[in-house]
Amino acid sequence: MTQFDKHSTAEEVTEGINLEGQIAVVSGVNSGIGHETARVLSLRGAKVFGTARTLEKAAESCREISDQAVPIACELTDLNSIASAVNTIKSQVHKIDMLVANAGIMAPAKLETVDGLEKQFATNHIGHFLFVTALQDLVVSARGRIMIVSSGLHRQAPVEGIQFDNLDGSKGYNKWWAYGQSKLANILFAKELARKLKDVGVAVNALHPGVIMTKLSRHMTAEDRSSMGGSVEFKTVPQGAATSCYLATNPGVQDVTCKYFADCREEEPSQLAQSASLAKQLWERSEQIVSAALS
Ligand SMILES: NC(=O)c1ccc[n+]([C@@H]2O[C@H](COP(=O)([O-])OP(=O)(O)OC[C@H]3O[C@@H](n4cnc5c(N)ncnc54)[C@H](OP(=O)(O)O)[C@@H]3O)[C@@H](O)[C@H]2O)c1
Repeated sequence: MTQFDKHSTAEEVTEGINLEGQIAVVSGVNSGIGHETARVLSLRGAKVFGTARTLEKAAESCREISDQAVPIACELTDLNSIASAVNTIKSQVHKIDMLVANAGIMAPAKLETVDGLEKQFATNHIGHFLFVTALQDLVVSARGRIMIVSSGLHRQAPVEGIQFDNLDGSKGYNKWWAYGQSKLANILFAKELARKLKDVGVAVNALHPGVIMTKLSRHMTAEDRSSMGGSVEFKTVPQGAATSCYLATNPGVQDVTCKYFADCREEEPSQLAQSASLAKQLWERSEQIVSAALS
C-alpha cells in the first residue's frame, strides 16, 4: 500500500530515488504538470527529453529545468512533426526508461478539426498514439514504464464511449463529451498497449493527475467554472505531477501494468474504460488513421 496520497508532491514521491543513467521523455514540457514532471525527474538524475509544439518553447522550458534537459519540437496535431521528434530522440538514445504522454488540450468552445479529426481526439489521443508506439521499442529496451495522462473526466465520454462514426465531430460536437472521449481513449490506449507489452516487462498505466489550475483551463467559460461548484478540491502543480512521477519511479509499482491511478493509488476507471473490446477497436481504428495520414 502506498504511503502517498492527494497531498503528496512530485518531489515527495521521488525522495531518495536515484535516476542517474535513466532516460525520460515527457510531452508538454513547457507548461503545467508536464514541466513539473520533467523538472522532478531531472532533479532525481534522469536525462530528460522534453517536447513542446516548437523547439523554442521546448528549449526555453528545458533551460529552466537543467542544462542536461534536451528540447524536442513535437506538434501533436502534425504526424510528420511527431515522426521527426521520434527520429531525433532515436538518434540520441537507445532506450527510454520513462515515457510520459502528458500534453493535452481541453474543451475548445467550437468544433475544430485537424486532418478530418476533432482536435481533442487528434491531439490527446492520436498524436500520442503515434508518438508512444513509435518509441515503444526504446522502452522495451529499458524494460521501462509508460504513463498516459488521462483525466477523471473520461467518465464524461459519450454513452457509446468512442463515437467511431463521428470522429470529425460533424454529427454533433459537445466540448466536454469530446474531451471525455479523448481522455477515455487515453485509458483504452494504455490498456491495449499494456496487453501487447505485458510479456516484455514494460509497465503501461493511465492516470488522473487531479484538478490543477493550469493553462489547460484556457477555454473554460465563466459558466463552466461556476458549474464546477465549490466542491472541487484543487491540487497545486507539484501535487498534480506526483502520480506521473510515482508511476515513473516507485519500485513498488515497477511490475504494475494495465491500471488506472489517481492520487498515487490504483482506482477503478469507468466501465467503458475497462472494455477490452473497445480498447481493441480503438487501437485498430487509430492504426488506420495514422497509416492513412502518413502515406
Ligand atoms: N490541470 C488539470 O486539472 C488536469 C486534470 C485532469 C487531466 N489533466 C491532463 O494533464 C495533462 C497536462 O495538462 P496541464 O494541466 O499541465 O495543462 P497545460 O498547462 O495546458 O499543459 C498542456 C501541455 O500540452 C501542450 N499541448 C497542447 N496541445 C498540443 C499540441 N497540439 N502539440 C503539442 N503539445 C500540445 C501544451 O503546449 P502549449 O502550451 O504550447 O499549448 C502544454 O505544454 C493533459 O493531458 C490534461 O488533459 C489535467
